[in-house]
Amino acid sequence: MLLRPLTVEDGALYPDFLAEVTADDLRLRFFAAMREVAPEMIDKLIHYDPAHAMAFIAIEEQTGRMLGVVRLHDDPSGHSAEFAILVRSRLKGHGLGWLMMKHMIACAKDKGLKTVHGQVLTENATMLLMCSELGFHSSDDPTERSMKVVTLPLDEVPCEAVH
Ligand SMILES: CC(C)(COP(=O)(O)OP(=O)(O)OC[C@H]1O[C@@H](n2cnc3c(N)ncnc32)[C@H](O)[C@@H]1OP(=O)(O)O)[C@@H](O)C(=O)NCCC(=O)NCCS
Repeated sequence: MLLRPLTVEDGALYPDFLAEVTADDLRLRFFAAMREVAPEMIDKLIHYDPAHAMAFIAIEEQTGRMLGVVRLHDDPSGHSAEFAILVRSRLKGHGLGWLMMKHMIACAKDKGLKTVHGQVLTENATMLLMCSELGFHSSDDPTERSMKVVTLPLDEVPCEAVH
């Protein structure tokens, strides 16, 4: 498995990837019921501004298939950023999400960000547990009852924990 920055060319890998992401997992990622991800959305996901965002794609080296993606978009303050993550559904529970989260956290720390945070549906027990094991604090989202906000102060993450 190769983990590298997401490029515009990776747009071509999305249809095969998303074909193996269940509707339920899409809802956990995008917080809305959707039968498929529109091409316009894929276009938006691959065209991010590297000055204010980062995204990493996991690739199966043998086949070149996309296995997962994690992204981090800076907040306007520039001190914090919001992450989102998605793993090919049949690969869930094999450590890929953990690996990508660790990589994202290491890159956020290297960039000098103070915190990373994300929105997670309250029902998404796997993600909430994983975030808790990674050191994130969890609180109720004041604007959305079905949602939690998970926050990781990066000064609480020792360098050796991510490198
Ligand atoms: C949530 C999601 C990203 C998790 O990815 P994953 O690859 O399935 O998760 P992992 O296999 O890495 O981790 C799951 C489990 O392994 C543990 N784990 C994995 N690697 C580990 C390691 N090296 N050390 C300790 N624990 C580890 C996790 O903490 C978790 O624990 P559990 O099995 O006891 O429940 C994935 O399920 C997904 O894409 N879901 C749909 C989209 C979504 O929910 N996104 C989150 C909102 S943005």
